[in-house]
Amino acid sequence: MSHHPAVAAWRLEHEYFNRLLHLLQEQVDVLYTGETPNYELMLDIIDYLRDYADQVHHPREDEAFRRLAQRSAQHRKVLQRLHQEHRVIAKAGENLRELLQQAENDSVVSRAEIEVAAATYLVYWGNHIAREEEEVLPAAEKLLTESDWAAARDAAPAMTDPLFGSDPQARFRNLRRRISSEAA
Ligand SMILES: [Fe+2]
Ligand SMILES: [Fe+2]
Repeated sequence: MSHHPAVAAWRLEHEYFNRLLHLLQEQVDVLYTGETPNYELMLDIIDYLRDYADQVHHPREDEAFRRLAQRSAQHRKVLQRLHQEHRVIAKAGENLRELLQQAENDSVVSRAEIEVAAATYLVYWGNHIAREEEEVLPAAEKLLTESDWAAARDAAPAMTDPLFGSDPQARFRNLRRRISSEAA
């Protein structure tokens, strides 16, 4: 089944995020075994998710959700919850970033604290994406109009994806390499 281009792009971003969350999970697994994880890789992932998902993907969704809620009363509750989760994810991501930065700088930071912060972040994100895919995207595709999609797109700064886009930023070079070696 072919999707509306906006929905196809939306799903593709979720796929990218899930790929990164998987990489992050692998590092958390390393932490569980008592080894030292790759903090730099973890930070790259969080930086990307903070910079692109929180600043671009989520504001666009918030506008799409707002419009969808006007058209579908039955979705209002889930849309409101997802909107709230965007704030929680941003805050949890910032918290995790601070802990990882401290760990990378060899400050004393408890591994248990990082484990909890990272595991919470992963669960939150994973469930969030799954709920959007299952409960929101099909309804959005059915009910949103071209002008809704345009408004959603314009709700965030016109910024290309700094990691998966056509012109990736140099600061994510290592992360890109890691992703392509995973995909191979
Ligand atoms: Fe979202
Ligand atoms: Fe999303």
